[in-house]
Amino acid sequence: MNMHQAEVVDHVEASGGYRILTVEVPSLAKTVKPGQFIHLRIPRMDGAVLRRPFSVYMAHGKEMAVLYKLVGRGTHSMKSIGKGEILSMIGPLGNGFPMLQSLKVPVLVAGGYGVAPLAFLASRIKKKGIVFIGGAKASDVLCVKDFKKLGWEVRIATDDGSAGEKGLVTKILDEWLSVLNPVELLEFFVCGPDGMLKAVAERAKRLDHTAWLSLDKHMGCGVGACLACVQKIKRNGVVSLLRVCREGPVFEASEIVWE
Ligand SMILES: Cc1cc2nc3c(=O)[nH]c(=O)nc-3n(C[C@H](O)[C@H](O)[C@H](O)COP(=O)(O)OP(=O)(O)OC[C@H]3O[C@@H](n4cnc5c(N)ncnc54)[C@H](O)[C@@H]3O)c2cc1C
Ligand code: FES
Repeated sequence: MNMHQAEVVDHVEASGGYRILTVEVPSLAKTVKPGQFIHLRIPRMDGAVLRRPFSVYMAHGKEMAVLYKLVGRGTHSMKSIGKGEILSMIGPLGNGFPMLQSLKVPVLVAGGYGVAPLAFLASRIKKKGIVFIGGAKASDVLCVKDFKKLGWEVRIATDDGSAGEKGLVTKILDEWLSVLNPVELLEFFVCGPDGMLKAVAERAKRLDHTAWLSLDKHMGCGVGACLACVQKIKRNGVVSLLRVCREGPVFEASEIVWE
């Protein structure tokens, strides 16, 4: 974990309400792993908490990108970031996703901007798998081209039916699971809202597959000092509060104690 000065090389709209910010930051781009995140200082913003956490969406050569959704004060302030601007970021933070076990088929399940770290993960896994992407509407379904370019199978669900099937992402996942050869060895990698994480965790448990969930918690310091981001985790029969920013954000599904 280090503080970096990153130069903005590109900042574009990805789809309505989402943007991709690309920076040149060789020291970080070379070392970051899928599932890790950065804590970005938002320029031109007042307030106690000036940094915001974002998963890394792409790292290649000297460059690294994040894909973000405009939700509140911080992300709206980010809209004014221009090419050539120097940004302060801390990273890489967190533990990231583990390596895929060689015999298993990777199954990625994403909700909204949760697709960003999974697109990065797919770019680093040699084995091609399947990705289920869910969103409220068509403009919330991101990175489809990234996965197709890598040769992955993509299935889509939206709440309003404006892209893919109408309904929850777990509906299309269930349809796929129901016709699958039962001896197929799967490994799930999941990022999205809590309800979706929990639903995929239940399926993985029922079918005896491993699932890695990336948790999204509100953060303060981002580096393990303030305890704003704790999550109950049960390991070896003992429940403890672990920091999502430090011991996470990725945890094995069966360890998470849902409140
Ligand atoms: C490990 C990690 C990785 C993340 N990766 C990404 C990413 O790749 N792309 C992306 O767009 N966002 C990501 N987020 C969420 C992002 O950090 C928040 O959306 C952002 O901090 C909101 O800042 P804001 O000032 O715009 O909103 P605020 O004004 O702080 O909040 C606006 C609204 O968003 C809600 N909110 C704030 N933070 C979060 C959060 N962490 N999770 C859910 N709701 C939140 C608030 O409750 C409020 O309703 C990630 C969060 C974590 C913890
Ligand atoms: S955000 Fe401060 S300990 Fe995790």
